[in-house]
Amino acid sequence: MEKKSIDWSNLGFGYIQTDKRYVSHYKDGAWDAGMLTEDANITINECACVLQYAQTVFEGLKAYTTQDGRIVTFRPDLNAQRLASSAQRLEMPVFPQERFIDAVEQTVKANAAYVPPYGSGATLYIRPYMFGSNAVIGVKPADEYQFRVFTTPVGPYFKGGAKPITLRVSDLDRAAPHGTGNIKAGLNYAMSLHTLMDAHRQGYDENMFLDPATHTKVEETGGANFLFITKDGKVVTPKSDSILPSITRRSLVHVAKAYLGLEVEERSVLFSEVKDFAECGLCGTAAVISPVGRIVDHDEVITFPSGMEQMGPTIQKLYDTLTGIQMGMIEAPEGWIHEIQ
Ligand code: PLP
Ligand code: COI
Repeated sequence: MEKKSIDWSNLGFGYIQTDKRYVSHYKDGAWDAGMLTEDANITINECACVLQYAQTVFEGLKAYTTQDGRIVTFRPDLNAQRLASSAQRLEMPVFPQERFIDAVEQTVKANAAYVPPYGSGATLYIRPYMFGSNAVIGVKPADEYQFRVFTTPVGPYFKGGAKPITLRVSDLDRAAPHGTGNIKAGLNYAMSLHTLMDAHRQGYDENMFLDPATHTKVEETGGANFLFITKDGKVVTPKSDSILPSITRRSLVHVAKAYLGLEVEERSVLFSEVKDFAECGLCGTAAVISPVGRIVDHDEVITFPSGMEQMGPTIQKLYDTLTGIQMGMIEAPEGWIHEIQ
């Protein structure tokens, strides 16, 4: 199969329309058989629940070309499970896990010409999502839904790739205590847009959100979880009910312990501790592991000893091991790599 002529190594994290996408409709209490379509546009009623009351949830995963030329995805079963919990929280019907994986496979296969070649630094981002599609004007869940999957080739989420970024602590929250911070719902991202754009206008790359109840503990950014490295080489990652359970973070905890022999603490992390860490990174499907060089909280500026030029040594090891597993250079734990046949 001939690849599309795309300048893979200069791709940013943007939307490029690919050839086919998957769609399944839910009506009268059941999902239909689902199919691929070439139509990238959706026509829905003006009063659709998604448009009026934001009843929508999504996932994000990637397809990679391995060193030996296979196309693989990373732990798609966990994305299927997380989409199911997101859907349940917003009173939406669950799209069955086996069908989720089949839909991802069909969509990636149909767009194989857009899966970036091994070594290009780019990947095919896969976006499964669901929304309430019929008209509701009183506040209630929809009765009809669409589950869809599209793909788009992407490069690094943050401009500059492996260069450390600068965060500022946001005064606004993205999630409420006991709210929806732990699911992947569009509404959480709408909540973050104003403070994200404000951060950009002030010259920062992203926000660090603190816990919404007390503003003393580290939560996450708008699109990734945190990893910190202590001066004695331990990995510390925040635990909270209002952050997204990142699949990358859960995988890195295992990689740190089982592949690198590092000690890992998953616990509440006070913002007051942050100045004592040696390294900091953001982890997620889009972010992979992006190094953080500096965090600004009003007058307080924290610059990590790893500096603004390169990733710290432990974050680098985690990055190399994880991407080595994803690209097939390092043997993966059982069930982590899902080949698209
Ligand atoms: N936190 C938020 C708010 C996210 O949007 C994402 C992206 O999916 C993550 C964390 C990272 O999660 P994952 O590693 O499963 O992609
Ligand atoms: C991801 O990492 O998949 C994300 O969803 C982050 C962002 C693009 C929303």
